Amino acid sequence: MEAKILLAFTCLALAACSNEESSSTARAPAASAAVEIAAQSTSTALRADAAVAVQRFGRQLQGELQQAMAEGGPLQAVAVCHLRAPAIADELSEETGFQLARVSLKHRNPERGQPSDWQREVLESFDRRLAAGTSAGELAFSSTAEGEYRFMKAIPTAPLCLTCHGTAIEPRLQAELTALYPQDLATGYQAGELRGAFVALRKVDGAKP
Ligand code: HEC
Repeated sequence: MEAKILLAFTCLALAACSNEESSSTARAPAASAAVEIAAQSTSTALRADAAVAVQRFGRQLQGELQQAMAEGGPLQAVAVCHLRAPAIADELSEETGFQLARVSLKHRNPERGQPSDWQREVLESFDRRLAAGTSAGELAFSSTAEGEYRFMKAIPTAPLCLTCHGTAIEPRLQAELTALYPQDLATGYQAGELRGAFVALRKVDGAKP
């Protein structure tokens, strides 16, 4: 028991411990400090898992997008994005146990891309932090609220993205986008701006004794 408390403090001191350590501290004794530390360690582990889930989501999307662009050009890639982006989100949500999504202040898909109130606040804070000099790769958020663990990671706009999200979209492509997404807001971006963010959510139990 003492060893666990010591481990918990070590974790806190290092502010970064591995998943195995976190799961043992999660069962630490009920002294309030230890519970607090255990909760912190659990969320450190969750954060690491959420970051991995989001990374897989991003890699798979980007891989399929690049392949579709290379094979059939942007028009075909739009069709792939339209069908595959939601499917990949669902498949990986099932696999990872996190509910995965992409949201944006200017969404294309009104069913999937629209942020909730707290997600909107995080997106706005990412934009402010980017403007203040934080690099896009460092923009992440995590918290536990209303019985769920919440993780978000910013998605920067790369030059590749401008074909379908930029200011000079080829007319046939624009027509296809408008047909699929009549209320599309996701154009007019410049490279380096934030296109949106990944979201990973997981229900968590309340404080267990
Ligand atoms: C071939 C065209 C195309 C390219 C290139 C493209 N996207 Fe998209 N993007 C789409 C489509 C279509 C959707 C809507 C997908 C859906 O229905 O869920 C979308 C949706 C999104 C969303 C989800 C939020 C929303 O607006 O609904 C994000 C975030 C996003 N794209 C980011 C990017 C980034 C970052 C890049 C560059 C790495 C990129 N896109 C490149 C076509 C494209």
